Amino acid sequence: MHDRSHFDGCTENCVYACLMSPHAKREGWVGIGRVVGMKVLVIGSGAREHAIVCGLLTDPGVTDVVCAPGNAGIALDAPTVVIDANDPAAIAALAASAFDGSPADLVVIGPEVPLVNGAADAVRAAGIACFGPGAEAAQLEGSKAFAKDVMAAAEVPTAMAHVCETLEEVSAALDQFGAPHVVKDDGLAAGKGVVVTNDRAEALAHAEQCLAKSGGRVVIEEYLDGPEVSLFCITDGIDVVPLLPAQDFKRVGDGDLGPNTGGMGAYTPLDWTPHGMVDEVVERVALPVVREMAHRGTPFSGLLYVGLAVTHRGIRVIEFNARFGDPETQAVLALLESGLGALLYASATGHLGQLPPLIWNRGAAVTVVVAAGGYPASPRSGDVITGLEAAGAVEGVRVFHAGTTHAVEEADAIVATGGRVLAITARGASLAEARDRAYDAVKLIELDGSHYRSDIALAAVCGEVTVPG
Ligand code: AMP
Ligand code: GLY
Repeated sequence: MHDRSHFDGCTENCVYACLMSPHAKREGWVGIGRVVGMKVLVIGSGAREHAIVCGLLTDPGVTDVVCAPGNAGIALDAPTVVIDANDPAAIAALAASAFDGSPADLVVIGPEVPLVNGAADAVRAAGIACFGPGAEAAQLEGSKAFAKDVMAAAEVPTAMAHVCETLEEVSAALDQFGAPHVVKDDGLAAGKGVVVTNDRAEALAHAEQCLAKSGGRVVIEEYLDGPEVSLFCITDGIDVVPLLPAQDFKRVGDGDLGPNTGGMGAYTPLDWTPHGMVDEVVERVALPVVREMAHRGTPFSGLLYVGLAVTHRGIRVIEFNARFGDPETQAVLALLESGLGALLYASATGHLGQLPPLIWNRGAAVTVVVAAGGYPASPRSGDVITGLEAAGAVEGVRVFHAGTTHAVEEADAIVATGGRVLAITARGASLAEARDRAYDAVKLIELDGSHYRSDIALAAVCGEVTVPG
C-alpha cells in the first residue's frame, strides 16, 4: 500500500467525491472525480493565474474562486485580495478565511517563489488542501543542481552537466562540452538565468555573474539539439496524469533571437512529436522522479513541469519546474474539457489514481504574449492599454491579463505594469485557425512601445518543426 499520509491536511470541508465516505454515499455522488460546491483560492497575478481562475470557474463543481493578489483582468472574473504572494504565512492566513470568513477547500499556488518559500506547507499545516509541492520538493525547480542530483538518482535522461563553484571549473567544463555553451544560474531567475551562446567570453561573463551571488553556483551543460516540449504532469506524489504537450517560445524575438524571457507564446497540441512521446516521458521521467522524491521523504505533489528537448538521441530533460508554465498553461487549459477543480483537488488530496481519464477538446490553441516596451531588460510601465474588448470579441479568443492594473487617475482605464502584459489565447479547429485568431486579436491591442513575436506556432503550422536525425 502506498503511503498517503502526507495528505492528512485534507479536511472535513473536502468535497471530493470519495465514494468511500458516508457523506458521498448520502449525497449520491456518482463516480470519483466529481466535486461539488468547492471554494478555491488561487495565488498569483499573471496570465497563468488568470487562465487557472477562468478554468476553475467553468468547472461545475467549483462555486467560488478568489485570487490573491490577481490583476485588473482577473478582477473582472473573480474577487481579488491584496497580499504579499511570496509570504507563506500570509497565504495560509488568507486561505483560512478567504470566503466571507470561511476557509478555502483548495488553494492553488501559481508561481514558484511562494512554493520554494514553503507556502504549500503552510497551507497544509492549516488543514487546507493545497495544489503544489512543499518547499523541499519545490527544490526541483529552486535548484538546478538539486534537480540534476534527483535525475541522476532516478536515471532520467538529461544533458551532461557540471556544477561549478569557481571560474577555473567553469572554464574546464566549457572546454569539455565545446560550443554552443550552456550556462545556468543554479537558483531561481524568472526564466532569465540561462545563457546559450557560441561566444566563450559571454559564457564566462554570465558564469562570473552567477558565481558572484551569495552561495553562487553555476551549472555548465552540454548543448541539446532539437525542438523543445513542455509537458505538464499532474501528480499526487504517487500517480501521474500528463496534460497535452505544448511548445513555448522563450526568446524575445522572432526566429528565436535575443535574450531569454519568461516565455513569449505557446501552442498545443504538437503534431510533430515522436509517437508515444508523452507515455515515454511519464515512464522515463515523471514517474521515476516522483518515486525518487517519495523515497527521499519529500514527496512531490502538484505539477511537475518537464521541459524537454527532443534530440537526435531521444528525449532529454532540460529543466523541471514545480508549477504550471506560463504561457503554456493558457493554451493547454483552453483545450481541457474535464473539470480543472476536480483534477487539482485530486492531486492535492491523493486521489489522482481514482480520477477518470481527462477529456480534451478537439482542435488547437495558440497563445501570443504582448510584452511591455523594453521587456525583458528594462520594461516600461504606466502606458494605457486599449482594444481589450475588441480583442476579446474575436471568435475563440480569451484575453488573459498579466501585468495590468487600473489607472490611478481614471479607474476605468487599464494600464500596463511592465513585463509580460497580456496573453492572447485563441482556440481553433486547426492550429492555423487558432493562430490566425490569436494574431487578429493581438493586432487590436494598442499599448505604446509594446512588442510581440509574430512567429508563434508558425513553423508548426508550416510543418517545419523537425526532430534531428
Ligand atoms: P531553463 O531555464 O533551464 O529552461 O533554460 C531556458 C532555455 O535555455 C531553455 O528553454 C532552452 O531554450 C535553453 N536551454 C537550456 N538548457 C539547454 C541545453 N542544455 N541545450 C540547449 N538549450 C538549452
Ligand atoms: N514558460 C516557461 C516557464 O513557465 O517557466
